[in-house]
Amino acid sequence: MERLDKILSNFGNMTRTQAKEYLKKGRITVNNLIVKDGSLKVSDDDEIGIDGKTINRTRFRYFMLNKPSGYISSTEDEPDGSARNVISLFECEKIKGLFPVGRLDKDTTGLLLVTNDGELGHRLTSPSAGIDKTYVATVKGILSPKDAEAFNAGMEFKDFIAKPAKLDIIETNEKEGSSVARVTISEGKFHQVKRMFLKVGCEVTALKRISEGKLMLDENLKPGEYRELSQDEIGRLME
Ligand code: URA
Repeated sequence: MERLDKILSNFGNMTRTQAKEYLKKGRITVNNLIVKDGSLKVSDDDEIGIDGKTINRTRFRYFMLNKPSGYISSTEDEPDGSARNVISLFECEKIKGLFPVGRLDKDTTGLLLVTNDGELGHRLTSPSAGIDKTYVATVKGILSPKDAEAFNAGMEFKDFIAKPAKLDIIETNEKEGSSVARVTISEGKFHQVKRMFLKVGCEVTALKRISEGKLMLDENLKPGEYRELSQDEIGRLME
């Protein structure tokens, strides 16, 4: 609950004196009833009008989620009830209109931006945005510098040509026949990272997104945990 005069100055772009004047003249309504007392406490669900026009009080919120495996990047659960959606993790926030920006596969973990700012979401996911996304992948097989070259050359698939991607081999384990690598892509085609590794003969067994553009996953967040972005991080998203 917040005072009506405070809301008028925040969302109606009024000075406190202007708000007082509007209230006195009966130009302000709350749920279609004229209100003259600026100290009235108003909830988020109350509709505030200035000269008969409802003011938009949507506050945009921006969260980084460390997506846990087993959740789908959607606002709805799987129709057969086999998996919950990532927005269900935000139930206690009671914020309308939250959605995940882009998609991670059900078994992929890591950085997922969640917001109610449709315009920003649209901008960040548009193919022309070309935002770099970095993943750490664990794969079956031993990666070699040749594979890094293949990633760097771009790859042709049945349905699309993947732009050059950067592959940094972090470790190879000959005994276990596995490798860990960091890979950066600038697009987000369906199963892109997994398909690129398959092209060099390696199956991804674990995939975690660690950054998107200038936004880095906060390593203090355990899978399933989230936090609000700082002003600085929001600013960097908008750059
Ligand atoms: N590439 C994939 O294959 N899966 C993801 O979840 C993200 C990128």
